[in-house]
Amino acid sequence: MKILVIGGGGREHAIVDALSRSPQAEKIYCAPGNAGIARQAECVAIKDTEVERLRDFALEKGIDLTVVGPEAALAAGVTDVFRAAGLSIFGPTKAATRIESSKDFAKELMRKYDIPTAAFRTFDNYAEASAYVKAGPLPTVLKYDGLAAGKGVVIAETQEQADEALRDMLLDNKFGQGRVVVEEFLTGPEFSFMCFVSETKVWPMVLAQDHKRAYDGDMGPNTGGMGAYSPLPFITAEDEAYALEHILKPTAAAMVAEGCPFEGVLYGGLMKTPQGIKVIEFNARFGDPETEVVLPRLKSDIVDIFRAVAEGGDAQPEWHDFATLGVVLASKGYPGSYEKGHEIKGLDKVESAVYHMGTKADGDRIVTAGGRVLFVVGRGATIAEAREAALRDVARIECDNLFHRTDIGHWALTGK
Ligand code: AMP
Ligand code: GLY
Repeated sequence: MKILVIGGGGREHAIVDALSRSPQAEKIYCAPGNAGIARQAECVAIKDTEVERLRDFALEKGIDLTVVGPEAALAAGVTDVFRAAGLSIFGPTKAATRIESSKDFAKELMRKYDIPTAAFRTFDNYAEASAYVKAGPLPTVLKYDGLAAGKGVVIAETQEQADEALRDMLLDNKFGQGRVVVEEFLTGPEFSFMCFVSETKVWPMVLAQDHKRAYDGDMGPNTGGMGAYSPLPFITAEDEAYALEHILKPTAAAMVAEGCPFEGVLYGGLMKTPQGIKVIEFNARFGDPETEVVLPRLKSDIVDIFRAVAEGGDAQPEWHDFATLGVVLASKGYPGSYEKGHEIKGLDKVESAVYHMGTKADGDRIVTAGGRVLFVVGRGATIAEAREAALRDVARIECDNLFHRTDIGHWALTGK
């Protein structure tokens, strides 16, 4: 089969890597890809949101299956455009992608179908939102209702912070003209539960946990994710069964009932609160960096699973027992401004898997080209061993403009 992967980060590198283990994948293309992906696939210079160009490329090359990574491509309707052209594609339609692109859609769906989540109210008027927040408890959670590149969520500890965020979102339209969801503040460990979903069929992946803050001790600003690992010792088999039966499966069924059946990866961002497991958010795609620690544990042929979802059919994903733990190497300054173009050396000395998140080839050299640059994924019988392997290999990578966290996996290793 000829397969096209859309996207160009660590997640897409892990997808390409999993595909390259399949005997069914004869030729893999990746648009736009990156310097690491280029070693395992042919990169094509088309942006992930140029959906008509991607469709024309797929038609011209006779692509048998396309796999979508980023939410921007899904929200731009790539699945609808490919299907209209008779092309097989793994990823939800634009209508089904609303479970990620609209917080309000997701929250109303959960309310209507009794899926456990934080209590909430939605506002489009600043004065009403402000009065509601003033009458309620702190901290409070304010979420802009639309895609805001991970920056649309504010946890306000004080009334002043809450008011400033409401002004940004509803008076100054900092992210665009949208509404705001005001949500109850929940506590407990967060985890990511991704499932392959084909209408009402739901095939769970192994669990992973992401680390969103920039610095050790979960300090500093929120990022796209600085590390991840799998499995999660603090989530029991019962917790997992509860989440599958009361959250992921009912949500898939609800999407069918609402007339927008979901096909692709349904990502539950969940929290184990003292009142039970609740949804923090849904995403309509593979998580990044969770995918890079989850797919290496997949024992089954991923092409069978993608086809079962894209074309209808059955799959029974099987998983390896070993643990994976990945550490992000990010450009100094990220998630704020940072420099690009710094040379990376030592990659040939690394034994772990290295997924490229933001790199570029410059002649024979590989240089930094993004905020998150590399993701080093160690493997071991235990999380502690996987962590050791990852940190050993991080130390082998030479670059003068990268930093990383040293405490990835702390929830599993120390219980806090
Ligand atoms: P989201 O973009 O919805 O995943 O929110 C980003 C982060 O904000 C989450 O990963 C949580 O750490 C935090 N967060 C979101 N909603 C809540 C909530 N209701 N209670 C506590 N923390 C939350
Ligand atoms: N790792 C969080 C996300 O992919 O949204």
